[in-house]
Amino acid sequence: MEIIRAKHMGFCFGVAGAIKMCYKVSSDEKNRGKRIYILGMLVHNEHVVSELSKQGFKIVEEKDILAGKDELHKGDVVIIRAHGTSEKIFQLLKEKEVEIYDATCVFVTQIRKTLVDMESQGYDIIFIGDKEHPEVKGIISFGKRVSVCNDLEELKNLEIDPQREYCLLTQTTLNKKKLEKIKSYLENTHQNVKILDKVCGATQVRQEAVEELAKQVDILIVIGGKTSSNTKKLYDISMSFNPNTYLIQDETDLKDEWFEGKSKIGITAGASTPEEIVIKIENQIRGIH
Ligand code: F3S
Repeated sequence: MEIIRAKHMGFCFGVAGAIKMCYKVSSDEKNRGKRIYILGMLVHNEHVVSELSKQGFKIVEEKDILAGKDELHKGDVVIIRAHGTSEKIFQLLKEKEVEIYDATCVFVTQIRKTLVDMESQGYDIIFIGDKEHPEVKGIISFGKRVSVCNDLEELKNLEIDPQREYCLLTQTTLNKKKLEKIKSYLENTHQNVKILDKVCGATQVRQEAVEELAKQVDILIVIGGKTSSNTKKLYDISMSFNPNTYLIQDETDLKDEWFEGKSKIGITAGASTPEEIVIKIENQIRGIH
């Protein structure tokens, strides 16, 4: 039996930076004795979140801040998660006079800035992404003329006014193939849509690597959080090339029967999956055989 890792997998730059920021903030002398909160899930991985909570970080939910039901007080510290938040939350946190540390990934911030900039130049925005994802909700909250479409089908139903100029932006973790289809549709139907590809580099190389790996292995294990968008995309891509693809959170999800008669095992992990989880899973797989 051979275990082959995808060429690119696991922690990305944005997730690593957000975790580093948490520990830097908590070890900073000036924050000694202060209550330190993280806004929602810092990254979409339950293991990372539970480790942070063991270290004493508290969680404050967006919905509670919006409803005025949070327990934040002046002087508390709030760390903004890697996929950012909405303009309203930033405003409410400032009003509460808490100290804000922004761990929003720079790629998310760039999209937010581009959206505001393109709107100010007169463009209406078409945003391709999952409307329910916090990253998307956060980014689009900074705009005024934004339509969100999850996929090509939804885009086809969108009324695009030939007299107006549009700018298409994307969620950082969008499936590249999905974007290519959207691009080719728009290039043939609507010349008044300027397409700005904002899929982040970390997402792109991980998606290409899982496709390459899925084609050469008997079974592919995708490791990541249930709510992680980029992990789900890796699963979808692998599944489209290899039906023996399984998405798991940790070693307890593995099933012996998946490996019966299989010799080449592929492994990839979402951008918020810690290396120690990957190692535990590899060890468990070796133990199964
Ligand atoms: Fe940032 Fe891309 Fe990671 S947007 S958080 S580098 S998946």
